[in-house]
Amino acid sequence: MDIKTVMVIGAGQMGAGIAQVCAQAGYKVYLNDLQEKLVEKGFEQISINLSRQVDKGRMTEDEKLLVFDQLFKSTNLQQAQYVDVVIEAATENMEIKASIFRELDKYAPEHAILATNTSSLPITEIAAFTKRPEKVIGMHFMNPVPVMKLVEIIRGLATEDDVYREIEAMAIKLNKVPVEVNDFPGFVSNRVLMPMINEAVYTLYEGVASKEAIDNVMKLGMNHPMGPLTLADFIGLDTCLYIMETLHEGFGDDKYRPCPLLRKYVKAGWLGKKSGRGFYVYD
Ligand code: CAA
Repeated sequence: MDIKTVMVIGAGQMGAGIAQVCAQAGYKVYLNDLQEKLVEKGFEQISINLSRQVDKGRMTEDEKLLVFDQLFKSTNLQQAQYVDVVIEAATENMEIKASIFRELDKYAPEHAILATNTSSLPITEIAAFTKRPEKVIGMHFMNPVPVMKLVEIIRGLATEDDVYREIEAMAIKLNKVPVEVNDFPGFVSNRVLMPMINEAVYTLYEGVASKEAIDNVMKLGMNHPMGPLTLADFIGLDTCLYIMETLHEGFGDDKYRPCPLLRKYVKAGWLGKKSGRGFYVYD
């Protein structure tokens, strides 16, 4: 298949980043969300990212405009009829995904691949909401999407080999490094990352060290670019909790039990950078 047109569903941090890298790679992109103002916010984020590239002399103003020529605003899922690949990056909630994939199954052309950027929900279950589970696949980008090289590509139980190969080739065209993963809770990235973050929250909860000390140990001692508590704030504490709950439920093992302090912060609305407060306070 010659992939030319893509729809990205969800114009939040991840969706906007995915739309940006797709447009920069030359794909025509519909950025879709429920309301026009959400799509506009996504466009603003892309504009800020590209302006940073212009300021650094890596891109001209004209090249920035060319990227925007590839981008189209969408609030109507019926426009999936014009695309070859859909990448869903909506809220991490199975009911929301179910409704989106049922709609996409109605509107997307027969040849279209339906990918999801879910960070931990089972691809096989999402695929079962459609009559084309062989065309459904996980395409898990990392935040911030324009910077991070990894794309985890997750095969559902029914995903066709050809679909895997198309998405692998697309990830390479996006200048990313694809890694093949099977469909188990948390895939590889979050199965390894989230228990580390959860353990960092436990060390804070048990008074082993201050938040700054915990972050410094991992930054200076293990060369991580961000300490685990800073990273948790950056990802969103609600997302971290949701993924830990998915691991806990999926494996049934107590080692994945979310730290009570993480639950408490989420209940308080301290969700990290996006809410202005998490383990740290943001302006
Ligand atoms: N969007 C776009 N570009 C960004 C950005 C953003 N939000 N934040 C930083 N950048 C760019 C900067 O412009 C800069 O670009 P150049 O090198 O081209 O100049 C580059 O990233 C480095 O930025 P800074 O110098 O400002 O800061 P830094 O060196 O601390 O890097 C970082 C910032 C790349 C975010 C780095 O701290 C990092 O790698 N952190 C860890 C990120 C991580 O682990 N992500 C995965 C999270 S897990 C996930 O996403 C999956 C999930 O399912 C939860």
